[in-house]
Amino acid sequence: MSQAAPSDAAHEKERSAVEQIFANKSYVDNPELLPWYMKDLDNLKPAARDLFENYSKVPSNEVIPHITKVRDQAFKTVFPYPCLGNWGFLDFSIGESQAYDEVLGRVKNGEKLLDLGCCMGQDIRKIVSDGAPSENTYASDLKQEFWDISLDLFLDKSTLKTTFIQADVLDDDSKLAQLDAKINIIYASSFFHVFDYEGQVQVAKRVVKLLKPESGSLVLGRSGGKGEAGDFTHVKKDLKSYWHNAESWTKLWERVGEETGTQWKVDAFLGDEDLAKRMRSNLVPAGTRFLTFVVRRV
Ligand SMILES: C[S@@+](CC[C@H](N)C(=O)[O-])C[C@H]1O[C@@H](n2cnc3c(N)ncnc32)[C@H](O)[C@@H]1O
Repeated sequence: MSQAAPSDAAHEKERSAVEQIFANKSYVDNPELLPWYMKDLDNLKPAARDLFENYSKVPSNEVIPHITKVRDQAFKTVFPYPCLGNWGFLDFSIGESQAYDEVLGRVKNGEKLLDLGCCMGQDIRKIVSDGAPSENTYASDLKQEFWDISLDLFLDKSTLKTTFIQADVLDDDSKLAQLDAKINIIYASSFFHVFDYEGQVQVAKRVVKLLKPESGSLVLGRSGGKGEAGDFTHVKKDLKSYWHNAESWTKLWERVGEETGTQWKVDAFLGDEDLAKRMRSNLVPAGTRFLTFVVRRV
């Protein structure tokens, strides 16, 4: 099923305009061409400010200009993802997970956490600033540049002992293979929805391989979701993204379990926030929500 809002013609017009802006990189000089780019950081949450002041040691009056400057660099020079443009990366969303206290305790006790598709690695900084030893943390992304810029954002190059691995998650021969069967917990935020349905199955199988083959291994995170699950048009003409609800996400893990000889217990729920408003774009259908999930190996 392919869904588009508000009408196919309006949707296609907006999609094709955005595709053009990506292709000619006109967002570099004029980022506001992309609807999800918000120039000003007006509502920094107290917990995020606290992390920049007390973990990164940015003086209070410099926090907003510092974040804005580095965010703009990432948006313009690496890739203009919505999570950068609309400040979503400042959610530090791992801290909002229903399993956060468990995850923090386990990583403090020596278990290994991998942030897959980490982008600016903000969720690693959240757990490290809450006391998890950074030696127990791993981060991976297609783009090394995001990680490099994140060290300037969080000013922790000399202290952070996270192992970063540049890798394409879909490449079975990537450097991620060194972590196979060694990871206890994978965090995957706004990551699965980068792929179409079959791509998500492939990523989930890669996740199964990275995790220790034992009960209690965990994958948690959040993805674009909707009450009515289905394909949505990608910015690129022939690509699709799949938005899940709790049932379709559970079904995906049933299939992954069958095809990998494993069993998974899925807890997932759709949040209240309408992400179409956050995106300020018809490319994301009204009623899009974050599907927050915890998937646990039985
Ligand atoms: C939408 S961003 C989400 C970033 C971050 N986890 C967050 O919640 O803010 C998706 C990230 O996935 C990375 N990515 C996209 N395709 C990938 C692939 N095939 N392999 C690894 N990372 C990929 C992108 O570079 C980007 O950093």
